[in-house]
Amino acid sequence: MSLPLLRLAGISKRYPGVQALTDVSLDVPAGQLRAVIGPNGAGKSTLFGVISGEYPPEAGVVELDGKNITGWPPWKCVRLGMARAFQVAKVFPRMTVYDNVLAAVMARDGTSWQFWRLTSRVPGRKRVDGLLAETGLLSLAETPAAVLSQGDRKRLEIAIALALEPRLLLLDEPTAGMSPEETHATVELIRQLWRERGLTVMLTEHDMGVVFALAEEITVLHRGRILCTGSPEEIRGRQDVREVYLGDIEL
Ligand SMILES: Nc1ncnc2c1ncn2[C@@H]1O[C@H](COP(=O)(O)OP(=O)(O)OP(=O)(O)O)[C@@H](O)[C@H]1O
Ligand SMILES: [Mg+2]
Repeated sequence: MSLPLLRLAGISKRYPGVQALTDVSLDVPAGQLRAVIGPNGAGKSTLFGVISGEYPPEAGVVELDGKNITGWPPWKCVRLGMARAFQVAKVFPRMTVYDNVLAAVMARDGTSWQFWRLTSRVPGRKRVDGLLAETGLLSLAETPAAVLSQGDRKRLEIAIALALEPRLLLLDEPTAGMSPEETHATVELIRQLWRERGLTVMLTEHDMGVVFALAEEITVLHRGRILCTGSPEEIRGRQDVREVYLGDIEL
């Protein structure tokens, strides 16, 4: 059993009038692909926000690779090896696909934009090409992000997250709004990234086909609390999970 890359202990998070997370504790071993599932409003995105430094929790501890990073701002979490792709993809809409990834590579390296724009022979450009190839976006390099399909936009966000060279990749509903073909391609992309890069991946999804195709272990959140964590087979067989979430979904 490998050491946990991510450890959460007793996390609680409140918004005004909403207790979004209560006493959430979980370990994600290095190299695991973990899914977090649960009904709308269960607290999945909030949990990702707490992990990635978007929201400081009122209580509890976040550890990455044994280091207490509770309350660290997002840029510091990125520096330590964490990257997050959002439920609604966050890209610079007027910039091309290429420049969006270039900006992320630059941010990772701490290089100034002016320098990069003026220099064509910088090693980072090779990295941008590599990332676009890896995520299947090479043919769209010169396309403005604003006109991408939902699927391509999400892939761009994954390319941007990868530019940050994470050890832990957080994907919030990576296939939301995609066609079945795009969903299939994205599942294969995530599987390939996970295997070839040796990443630890944590994702949320409402598409149970995606969850059961990818996850090694599944954590179920319900009303801000962990209901259970288990293998896909265990989760499939649990009556309480069916009652709160899976309902009549054919698994
Ligand atoms: N910025 C915010 N301010 C106030 N309340 C919020 C905020 N973000 C989320 N909430 C509330 O916190 C609870 C948890 O929301 P969260 O977005 O984390 O759930 P989720 O599991 O990601 O849901 P979904 O499956 O719909 O994406 C919900 O009751 C939601 O309305
Ligand atoms: Mg969400």
